[in-house]
Amino acid sequence: MSDSQKVLGAAIFGAGWVAGEHARAYQQCPRTRLVAVGSRREESARRCVDYGGALDAFITTDYEELLSHPDVDVISVTTPPDLHPELTIRAAQAGKHVCIEKPIALEWPHCLAMRDAVAEAGVKTIVSFCLHWNPSLVTTKNLIERGAIGKPYYVGVDYWHRLTSNYPQYKWSVGKPQGRSSLLSAGCHAVDALRWFKGADNEVVEVTAYSVPHQGDNPDWGYDPTTILICRFADGTVGKTASILDCPMPYQFNVDVVGTRGTIRGNRVWSEELFPGQTDWSVIPTVLPDSGDVTHHPFNGQIEAFVASILDNVPCLPDLNDALKTHEIIFAADRSAATGAPVRLPLES
Ligand SMILES: NC(=O)c1ccc[n+]([C@@H]2O[C@H](COP(=O)([O-])OP(=O)(O)OC[C@H]3O[C@@H](n4cnc5c(N)ncnc54)[C@H](OP(=O)(O)O)[C@@H]3O)[C@@H](O)[C@H]2O)c1
Repeated sequence: MSDSQKVLGAAIFGAGWVAGEHARAYQQCPRTRLVAVGSRREESARRCVDYGGALDAFITTDYEELLSHPDVDVISVTTPPDLHPELTIRAAQAGKHVCIEKPIALEWPHCLAMRDAVAEAGVKTIVSFCLHWNPSLVTTKNLIERGAIGKPYYVGVDYWHRLTSNYPQYKWSVGKPQGRSSLLSAGCHAVDALRWFKGADNEVVEVTAYSVPHQGDNPDWGYDPTTILICRFADGTVGKTASILDCPMPYQFNVDVVGTRGTIRGNRVWSEELFPGQTDWSVIPTVLPDSGDVTHHPFNGQIEAFVASILDNVPCLPDLNDALKTHEIIFAADRSAATGAPVRLPLES
């Protein structure tokens, strides 16, 4: 059987909220089968295989057993983020391809150790910035690439969400040890999109950020839930992300891209290039990134792209090396917010 016809065995470690969607995506992808799930508690792993509909999948609480399972080719690491570096490095050393949930790590040196281990093992990776498969964001990227708005000189992407105790991850993600910062915990999706829209030939060269403590009466917040970053790209143009995790409003992922020939605001387009004589915004009916619920997130596209990178040897972004650049901006921003000074990139390597 040629590689392109093979069906990969998938495993998941860390059987919580997002793991269920990875399970379903692996089961729904024709080129993967969920063969094993591990977690700290056996009942969580069992719930995950039930939810994914992989009733014969192997269940364990021992990560080593997943790594040595003969049918496992790829592993999704879906634990809280403080565990991602060690689990990723061990998976790579065991020769497994790794799908890493965001954020990839909570410390910059851990990111570098992951990069080195993955490079040495020669395995494939994907980082779970799943909005790369959201139809509205794909449309935005297509419009920019096809020149609909000319050269972008301002990219603004915001992550606005009220994280409440209804979310399974609340108990650990509002705390500093495992949540760490607004941008690391969730705003990283917006920083990833900011870079994606600006394009790989124009990376961020300088970052300034400010953060704001929780303004209400919730004592659980262990870090400032609001961080706003502004950045300069290599071509001298600018970007902005406001990550707000305690805002009293429904989830919103704002996208604004201003170019020399037009502007995109969410699913609204103004294009002097494409629509001469346009008198009002053109609105594109599409699926917006307007929910914080993981059942709304496009994990199917992400898993299909990951599998194609392995079986068809085609490029797949965002992989670990690409996500490192997003995380580098975030670590720079958190450093800037702490010191009050701009931070130039690259960070120390
Ligand atoms: N890409 C996205 O859009 C998206 C969306 C949501 C979350 N995420 C990310 O996904 C990750 C998980 O988030 P979540 O919302 O799914 O959290 P969650 O519901 O709390 O699930 C995490 C699971 O990890 C397991 N775990 C914790 N410590 C462990 C350990 N030491 N060893 C083994 N398993 C352990 C827990 O399993 P037990 O139940 O067995 O104790 C828990 O069920 C985070 O990095 C988060 O940022 C990404």
